Amino acid sequence: MTSIIQCHDVGLHFANEQKPVLANINVQVQAGEFVSIIGKSGSGKTTLLKMIGGLLQPSTGDIHVLGRRISEPIEECTYVFQKPVLLEWRTVLENVLVPIEVKRRLKQADKEQAKAIIQTVGLAGHEDKYPHELSGGMMSRVTLARALLTQPKILLMDEPFAALDAMTKDQLQLELMQLSSQFSTTIVFITHDITEAVYLSDRVLLLGGQPAEVAHEYTIPFSKLRPKELKFNPSFTGIVKEIYETIETVGASSR
Ligand SMILES: Nc1ncnc2c1ncn2[C@@H]1O[C@H](COP(=O)(O)OP(=O)(O)OP(=O)(O)O)[C@@H](O)[C@H]1O
Ligand SMILES: [Mg+2]
Repeated sequence: MTSIIQCHDVGLHFANEQKPVLANINVQVQAGEFVSIIGKSGSGKTTLLKMIGGLLQPSTGDIHVLGRRISEPIEECTYVFQKPVLLEWRTVLENVLVPIEVKRRLKQADKEQAKAIIQTVGLAGHEDKYPHELSGGMMSRVTLARALLTQPKILLMDEPFAALDAMTKDQLQLELMQLSSQFSTTIVFITHDITEAVYLSDRVLLLGGQPAEVAHEYTIPFSKLRPKELKFNPSFTGIVKEIYETIETVGASSR
Protein backbone atom coordinates (compact mmCIF):
# COMPACT_ATOMS: atom_id res chain seq x y z
CA MET A 1 0.00 0.00 0.00
CA THR A 2 1.07 3.59 -0.65
CA SER A 3 1.57 6.13 2.12
CA ILE A 4 -0.25 9.24 0.99
CA ILE A 5 0.52 11.25 4.13
CA GLN A 6 3.84 10.91 5.95
CA CYS A 7 4.69 12.79 9.14
CA HIS A 8 8.30 12.22 10.08
CA ASP A 9 9.46 13.23 13.60
CA VAL A 10 7.10 16.19 13.52
CA GLY A 11 7.08 18.67 16.39
CA LEU A 12 5.56 22.07 16.92
CA HIS A 13 6.63 24.78 19.31
CA PHE A 14 4.61 28.00 19.16
CA ALA A 15 6.97 30.98 19.50
CA ASN A 16 5.09 32.52 22.44
CA GLU A 17 4.72 29.27 24.43
CA GLN A 18 7.10 27.75 26.99
CA LYS A 19 6.74 24.14 25.86
CA PRO A 20 6.22 22.48 22.48
CA VAL A 21 2.66 21.31 21.81
CA LEU A 22 3.63 18.27 19.76
CA ALA A 23 6.79 16.15 19.48
CA ASN A 24 7.95 12.99 17.72
CA ILE A 25 4.85 12.58 15.60
CA ASN A 26 5.42 9.75 13.15
CA VAL A 27 2.24 9.03 11.27
CA GLN A 28 1.66 7.32 7.96
CA VAL A 29 -1.72 7.31 6.28
CA GLN A 30 -2.36 4.94 3.39
CA ALA A 31 -4.33 5.82 0.25
CA GLY A 32 -8.06 5.36 0.91
CA GLU A 33 -7.58 5.00 4.64
CA PHE A 34 -9.86 6.69 7.21
CA VAL A 35 -7.83 7.77 10.24
CA SER A 36 -9.26 9.55 13.26
CA ILE A 37 -7.30 11.64 15.73
CA ILE A 38 -8.64 11.80 19.27
CA GLY A 39 -7.25 13.25 22.49
CA LYS A 40 -8.14 15.67 25.24
CA SER A 41 -8.88 19.30 24.53
CA GLY A 42 -5.64 21.19 23.94
CA SER A 43 -3.64 18.06 23.10
CA GLY A 44 -2.76 19.41 19.65
CA LYS A 45 -5.20 17.69 17.28
CA THR A 46 -6.08 20.81 15.28
CA THR A 47 -2.43 21.85 15.25
CA LEU A 48 -1.44 18.51 13.71
CA LEU A 49 -4.24 18.61 11.13
CA LYS A 50 -3.29 22.18 10.15
CA MET A 51 0.31 21.08 9.60
CA ILE A 52 -0.84 18.20 7.36
CA GLY A 53 -2.99 20.69 5.46
CA GLY A 54 -0.06 23.08 4.95
CA LEU A 55 -1.72 25.79 7.07
CA LEU A 56 1.01 25.64 9.73
CA GLN A 57 4.69 24.76 9.45
CA PRO A 58 6.24 22.17 11.81
CA SER A 59 9.11 23.39 13.99
CA THR A 60 10.88 20.06 13.61
CA GLY A 61 10.57 17.13 11.22
CA ASP A 62 8.74 17.17 7.92
CA ILE A 63 5.45 16.23 6.33
CA HIS A 64 5.03 14.74 2.87
CA VAL A 65 1.65 14.54 1.17
CA LEU A 66 1.37 12.67 -2.13
CA GLY A 67 5.15 12.48 -2.15
CA ARG A 68 5.67 16.25 -1.89
CA ARG A 69 7.05 18.08 1.12
CA ILE A 70 4.29 20.34 2.39
CA SER A 71 4.91 24.04 2.91
CA GLU A 72 1.49 25.38 1.85
CA PRO A 73 -2.00 24.02 1.14
CA ILE A 74 -2.21 21.82 -1.95
CA GLU A 75 -5.08 21.40 -4.39
CA GLU A 76 -5.59 17.66 -3.81
CA CYS A 77 -6.26 18.23 -0.13
CA THR A 78 -9.43 19.87 1.22
CA TYR A 79 -9.65 21.17 4.78
CA VAL A 80 -13.05 21.19 6.49
CA PHE A 81 -13.15 23.54 9.49
CA GLN A 82 -15.17 22.69 12.57
CA LYS A 83 -17.44 25.70 12.16
CA PRO A 84 -19.30 25.71 8.84
CA VAL A 85 -17.83 28.57 6.82
CA LEU A 86 -20.52 29.70 4.37
CA LEU A 87 -20.91 32.90 2.38
CA GLU A 88 -24.10 34.53 3.69
CA TRP A 89 -24.98 36.23 0.38
CA ARG A 90 -24.80 33.00 -1.63
CA THR A 91 -27.34 30.20 -1.90
CA VAL A 92 -26.64 26.58 -0.99
CA LEU A 93 -25.86 25.76 -4.63
CA GLU A 94 -23.63 28.83 -5.03
CA ASN A 95 -21.77 28.01 -1.81
CA VAL A 96 -21.14 24.45 -2.95
CA LEU A 97 -19.75 25.74 -6.26
CA VAL A 98 -17.23 28.17 -4.68
CA PRO A 99 -14.13 25.89 -4.89
CA ILE A 100 -14.66 25.39 -8.63
CA GLU A 101 -15.43 29.06 -9.25
CA VAL A 102 -12.19 30.23 -7.69
CA LYS A 103 -10.30 28.02 -10.14
CA ARG A 104 -12.15 28.54 -13.42
CA ARG A 105 -15.36 29.55 -15.18
CA LEU A 106 -18.37 27.47 -14.19
CA LYS A 107 -19.85 25.06 -16.71
CA GLN A 108 -23.40 23.72 -16.78
CA ALA A 109 -21.98 20.28 -15.92
CA ASP A 110 -20.56 21.69 -12.65
CA LYS A 111 -24.04 22.83 -11.62
CA GLU A 112 -25.52 19.45 -12.44
CA GLN A 113 -22.78 17.72 -10.47
CA ALA A 114 -23.26 20.10 -7.52
CA LYS A 115 -27.01 19.43 -7.53
CA ALA A 116 -26.36 15.68 -7.52
CA ILE A 117 -24.02 15.93 -4.55
CA ILE A 118 -26.45 18.24 -2.72
CA GLN A 119 -29.02 15.51 -3.18
CA THR A 120 -26.59 12.88 -1.89
CA VAL A 121 -26.07 14.80 1.37
CA GLY A 122 -29.84 15.07 1.80
CA LEU A 123 -30.40 18.69 0.80
CA ALA A 124 -32.47 18.24 -2.37
CA GLY A 125 -34.99 21.05 -2.65
CA HIS A 126 -32.85 23.45 -0.57
CA GLU A 127 -30.47 24.51 -3.38
CA ASP A 128 -31.77 28.08 -3.51
CA LYS A 129 -31.85 28.75 0.22
CA TYR A 130 -29.44 31.16 1.92
CA PRO A 131 -27.34 30.17 4.96
CA HIS A 132 -29.59 32.11 7.39
CA GLU A 133 -32.47 29.87 6.31
CA LEU A 134 -30.60 26.66 7.24
CA SER A 135 -30.29 24.69 10.48
CA GLY A 136 -26.84 23.83 11.89
CA GLY A 137 -27.12 20.30 10.51
CA MET A 138 -28.01 21.61 7.07
CA MET A 139 -25.01 23.97 7.13
CA SER A 140 -22.74 21.02 7.95
CA ARG A 141 -24.23 19.16 4.99
CA VAL A 142 -23.45 22.11 2.71
CA THR A 143 -19.81 22.14 3.83
CA LEU A 144 -19.66 18.38 3.28
CA ALA A 145 -21.13 18.72 -0.23
CA ARG A 146 -18.70 21.55 -1.02
CA ALA A 147 -15.75 19.50 0.21
CA LEU A 148 -16.81 16.46 -1.82
CA LEU A 149 -17.69 18.26 -5.06
CA THR A 150 -14.10 18.64 -6.18
CA GLN A 151 -13.51 14.97 -5.28
CA PRO A 152 -10.36 15.70 -3.30
CA LYS A 153 -7.89 12.86 -2.87
CA ILE A 154 -7.57 13.86 0.77
CA LEU A 155 -10.12 15.31 3.19
CA LEU A 156 -8.94 16.80 6.48
CA MET A 157 -11.91 17.26 8.80
CA ASP A 158 -11.79 19.02 12.17
CA GLU A 159 -14.76 17.90 14.31
CA PRO A 160 -17.17 18.41 11.42
CA PHE A 161 -20.17 16.90 13.22
CA ALA A 162 -19.49 18.17 16.74
CA ALA A 163 -22.37 20.63 16.82
CA LEU A 164 -25.02 18.22 15.55
CA ASP A 165 -27.77 16.32 17.32
CA ALA A 166 -27.29 12.54 17.64
CA MET A 167 -29.63 11.56 14.80
CA THR A 168 -28.27 14.03 12.25
CA LYS A 169 -24.77 12.99 13.25
CA ASP A 170 -25.61 9.29 12.71
CA GLN A 171 -26.99 10.08 9.28
CA LEU A 172 -24.01 12.20 8.19
CA GLN A 173 -21.55 9.59 9.47
CA LEU A 174 -23.24 7.04 7.25
CA GLU A 175 -23.20 9.38 4.26
CA LEU A 176 -19.54 10.28 4.80
CA MET A 177 -18.66 6.58 5.05
CA GLN A 178 -20.48 5.79 1.81
CA LEU A 179 -19.15 8.80 -0.10
CA SER A 180 -15.56 8.30 1.00
CA SER A 181 -15.75 4.67 -0.03
CA GLN A 182 -17.35 5.59 -3.39
CA PHE A 183 -14.66 8.19 -4.18
CA SER A 184 -11.80 6.30 -2.43
CA THR A 185 -11.06 9.44 -0.44
CA THR A 186 -8.30 9.40 2.17
CA ILE A 187 -9.64 11.03 5.34
CA VAL A 188 -8.03 12.37 8.50
CA PHE A 189 -10.80 13.19 10.94
CA ILE A 190 -10.71 14.83 14.36
CA THR A 191 -13.40 14.04 16.88
CA HIS A 192 -14.08 14.03 20.61
CA ASP A 193 -16.65 11.31 20.11
CA ILE A 194 -14.96 7.92 20.58
CA THR A 195 -17.93 5.98 19.18
CA GLU A 196 -17.79 8.15 16.04
CA ALA A 197 -14.04 7.58 15.71
CA VAL A 198 -14.35 3.80 16.01
CA TYR A 199 -17.39 3.63 13.73
CA LEU A 200 -15.82 5.59 10.87
CA SER A 201 -12.16 4.69 11.05
CA ASP A 202 -9.74 2.08 9.86
CA ARG A 203 -7.35 3.43 12.50
CA VAL A 204 -7.67 5.69 15.54
CA LEU A 205 -4.70 7.67 16.87
CA LEU A 206 -4.80 8.89 20.45
CA LEU A 207 -2.70 11.98 21.19
CA GLY A 208 -1.43 12.37 24.74
CA GLY A 209 1.44 13.60 26.89
CA GLN A 210 3.22 16.92 27.20
CA PRO A 211 4.32 17.59 24.54
CA ALA A 212 1.75 15.33 22.91
CA GLU A 213 2.77 12.28 20.93
CA VAL A 214 0.77 9.44 19.43
CA ALA A 215 0.25 7.66 22.75
CA HIS A 216 -1.83 4.80 21.36
CA GLU A 217 -2.91 3.54 17.99
CA TYR A 218 -5.92 1.30 17.43
CA THR A 219 -6.62 -0.68 14.28
CA ILE A 220 -10.38 -1.09 13.90
CA PRO A 221 -11.12 -4.57 12.59
CA PHE A 222 -14.38 -4.02 10.68
CA SER A 223 -15.04 -3.85 6.95
CA LYS A 224 -15.35 -0.44 5.24
CA LEU A 225 -19.12 -0.09 4.92
CA ARG A 226 -20.58 -0.54 8.37
CA PRO A 227 -24.24 -0.68 9.33
CA LYS A 228 -25.43 1.71 12.07
CA GLU A 229 -26.28 -1.32 14.22
CA LEU A 230 -22.56 -2.14 14.52
CA LYS A 231 -22.45 0.47 17.30
CA PHE A 232 -24.36 -1.97 19.55
CA ASN A 233 -22.17 -4.96 18.74
CA PRO A 234 -20.17 -6.13 21.83
CA SER A 235 -16.89 -6.29 19.90
CA PHE A 236 -17.47 -2.66 18.84
CA THR A 237 -18.43 -1.43 22.30
CA GLY A 238 -15.45 -3.30 23.73
CA ILE A 239 -13.05 -1.22 21.61
CA VAL A 240 -14.86 2.01 22.53
CA LYS A 241 -14.57 1.12 26.23
CA GLU A 242 -10.88 0.31 25.91
CA ILE A 243 -10.15 3.67 24.25
CA TYR A 244 -12.34 5.50 26.75
CA GLU A 245 -10.37 4.02 29.64
CA THR A 246 -7.00 4.71 28.02
CA ILE A 247 -7.81 8.34 27.21
CA GLU A 248 -8.31 8.96 30.93
CA THR A 249 -4.79 7.74 31.67
CA VAL A 250 -2.84 9.75 29.07
CA GLY A 251 -1.86 13.24 30.17
CA ALA A 252 -2.54 16.33 28.09
CA SER A 253 -2.56 20.02 28.60
CA SER A 254 -5.97 21.44 29.27
CA ARG A 255 -7.12 24.82 28.04
N1 LIG B 1 -1.45 30.02 17.27
C1 LIG B 1 -1.20 29.55 18.49
N2 LIG B 1 -0.31 30.17 19.29
C2 LIG B 1 -0.01 29.69 20.51
N3 LIG B 1 -0.55 28.58 21.03
C3 LIG B 1 -1.45 27.93 20.31
C4 LIG B 1 -1.83 28.37 18.98
N4 LIG B 1 -2.74 27.50 18.47
C5 LIG B 1 -2.93 26.57 19.44
N5 LIG B 1 -2.16 26.81 20.51
C6 LIG B 1 -2.07 26.00 21.74
O1 LIG B 1 -1.67 24.70 21.33
C7 LIG B 1 -2.32 23.71 22.11
C8 LIG B 1 -3.02 22.75 21.18
O2 LIG B 1 -4.07 23.41 20.50
P1 LIG B 1 -5.02 22.67 19.48
O3 LIG B 1 -6.00 23.66 18.98
O4 LIG B 1 -4.20 21.95 18.49
O5 LIG B 1 -5.72 21.61 20.45
P2 LIG B 1 -6.90 20.57 20.16
O6 LIG B 1 -6.41 19.22 20.56
O7 LIG B 1 -7.38 20.74 18.77
O8 LIG B 1 -8.01 21.03 21.20
P3 LIG B 1 -9.62 21.01 21.07
O9 LIG B 1 -10.02 19.57 21.28
O10 LIG B 1 -10.08 21.86 22.21
O11 LIG B 1 -10.00 21.56 19.74
C9 LIG B 1 -3.25 24.47 23.06
O12 LIG B 1 -2.60 24.59 24.31
C10 LIG B 1 -3.41 25.81 22.42
O13 LIG B 1 -3.63 26.82 23.38
MG1 LIG C 1 -9.17 21.44 17.92
